[in-house]
Amino acid sequence: RDVEDRTLLVHFIRDHLALTGTHVGCDTTQCGACTVVVDGKAVKSCTVLAVSADGSDVTTVEGLADGDNLHDVQTAFHEHHGLQCGFCTSGMIMAAVNMIKRHDGMLDEATVRHELEGNLCRCTGYHNIIKSVLAAAEKHRQRNHAAA
Ligand code: FES
Ligand code: FES
Repeated sequence: RDVEDRTLLVHFIRDHLALTGTHVGCDTTQCGACTVVVDGKAVKSCTVLAVSADGSDVTTVEGLADGDNLHDVQTAFHEHHGLQCGFCTSGMIMAAVNMIKRHDGMLDEATVRHELEGNLCRCTGYHNIIKSVLAAAEKHRQRNHAAA
């Protein structure tokens, strides 16, 4: 697609591609609701120009499930009640997916809390979000290190 130089990645994703799972909470790099993964790194897409992502591999929350099968992190948020209103959830999930991958599932509560400092939630008090991420990390370890 052609975009203006000033178009933010989050607006490109939402308005040009109609992928509205990525949310805009603040537009000022504070809340993390707009988190997507660009070339293996979780980024706040309200802080990235669409043109600077040209040629990059961008994953949004819509790209996680395999058909009807939810990604492990999505399942964990569902099973551990990691959301209430859901506004922050796609950003939390994208940050968690990236975090689990970078740490190969080797996560503890303190690390998860530290890594999620850039993602704000107004509803949950974070406890169930942390539980969800740790449960998904455990699943990752079981899947990838079962033979170890
Ligand atoms: Fe991007 Fe809040 S909308 S950090
Ligand atoms: Fe409502 Fe996080 S679930 S803001």
